[in-house]
Amino acid sequence: MKIVAFDPRRHHRAGFACGHDGLDEYLRRYASQSLRNHLARVYVAEDGDARVLGYYTLSAASLGHDEFPEPMARRLPKYPVPAVLIGRMASDRQARESGLRIGSRLLIHALKQAIRAADTIGVQCVIVDSKPEAVAFYRRFGFIPLTEDGLKLYLPIATVKTLDHQHETVEPA
Ligand SMILES: CC(C)(COP(=O)(O)OP(=O)(O)OC[C@H]1O[C@@H](n2cnc3c(N)ncnc32)[C@H](O)[C@@H]1OP(=O)(O)O)[C@@H](O)C(=O)NCCC(=O)NCCS
Repeated sequence: MKIVAFDPRRHHRAGFACGHDGLDEYLRRYASQSLRNHLARVYVAEDGDARVLGYYTLSAASLGHDEFPEPMARRLPKYPVPAVLIGRMASDRQARESGLRIGSRLLIHALKQAIRAADTIGVQCVIVDSKPEAVAFYRRFGFIPLTEDGLKLYLPIATVKTLDHQHETVEPA
């Protein structure tokens, strides 16, 4: 399995099924449009036949000062803070059973891309819009809920860099 930039002409995704129709449909119908319109970068985990086993999207985003929990907010300026957004992430349900740890590897890849972006432009944190049933997955990696429903989570880039430095690769807790 390899993680590469999504190539709509090369990657087979018709059979992709993660358990969420919206996430499947996005990959089939809208991912290439997002690329064309510069709304997201899309990365896929592919097998040897260019079949998509998982994917995630990455975009620039910003977070309002009042979206941070109080102790964190006190250390931040009162204007929007730059962030990298993991907008979507999914692994194929059948492929999950292979034990390839597709989701973890995609997330580690995404965090490394965020570090790369942060070397070039200001990035204060990585944020993620989660489905309710995936919140626990992100929390394993240290993501902290921003909202009461817990569906928007963040990880300070300083923490991501520490993890990367300590372990050379970011591993789940
Ligand atoms: C969430 C998702 C991306 C995780 O991918 P995955 O391929 O199952 O992840 P991994 O195989 O790397 O799992 C790593 C660990 O996290 C655990 N895990 C996986 N999904 C989890 C979830 N939803 N909640 C809590 N833990 C989860 C696994 O059991 C595994 O545990 P282990 O280390 O004890 O073995 C995948 O389940 C998925 O596509 N779900 C449907 C779509 C979705 O909810 N996407 C996320 C929000 S946009």
